[in-house]
Amino acid sequence: MTDRYLMCAPDNFDVSYVINPWMQGNVAASCNDLAWRQWDALADAIAGVASVERIAGQPGVPDMVFTANAGLVLQNTVVLSHFRHAERQPEEAHFEKWFQEQGFDVVKLAPELAFEGAGDALLDRGQPLLWMGYGHRTSIECAAALAALLDIEVEPLRLIDERFYHLDTCLCPLVGGYLMYYPQAFDDASRARIAARVPAARRIEVAEADALAFACNAVNSGRHVFLNRASPALARNLAARGFQVRQTPLGEFMKAGGAAKCLTLKLNEARGTKARAAA
Ligand code: ARG
Repeated sequence: MTDRYLMCAPDNFDVSYVINPWMQGNVAASCNDLAWRQWDALADAIAGVASVERIAGQPGVPDMVFTANAGLVLQNTVVLSHFRHAERQPEEAHFEKWFQEQGFDVVKLAPELAFEGAGDALLDRGQPLLWMGYGHRTSIECAAALAALLDIEVEPLRLIDERFYHLDTCLCPLVGGYLMYYPQAFDDASRARIAARVPAARRIEVAEADALAFACNAVNSGRHVFLNRASPALARNLAARGFQVRQTPLGEFMKAGGAAKCLTLKLNEARGTKARAAA
């Protein structure tokens, strides 16, 4: 099946406030022309192997380009996000309208819970499991709520480094049951839970320099992996596991704290089964 991704072009993209450490010192420092070129290059690269759908950006919501934060999709259901920061809350209505128009069943969590969609909730690709990041944006109570709502097992992971404030900045499930992640972004208990869930041969640990280059913020469609940048060592590691890495620079979006994965939302999410490739 062809994968489908939702993207939002950067007409209105800018760094206009600071809600994560990457944005610090970068207010009004991004170049919209370059952002457009980088965004087009990513969209073209993904469109080469998958289909890209678009939502129109809106004035006043410069972070709307980060469609990963629109919600969590599973089959025909989308759990709509409710952003922690007021600056991003006006995006919710725009995304809700789009999902309604596309025929998704739109559900919402209790209004007191902060939830930032596929920025913090990632489906494993080798077992029916949802990894959920908390500690910065998404409320821990979302774990139980999502488990009940979607009838899926949820493994909460505590994020402890504010540079990696969304789960998708430091962890990426890959086809075949692999898990690429930056261990130091998690507390010890969470690291132990990852190790208990994913065999060593399937864990791809990323060094700090790669993590800071947003290597974990990768889009994975089949054997293709799209990311901002990977060191030769990481690229070799991924290639040895059968992945074809395509580096596509996204520096303008990193000024806002996001890269490839943040700029996309996978729209066709099947219910996971035991799909781990033979070791
Ligand atoms: N400036 C945005 C924020 O801080 C960046 C979002 C990046 N998205 C992501 N899925 N990590 O909310």
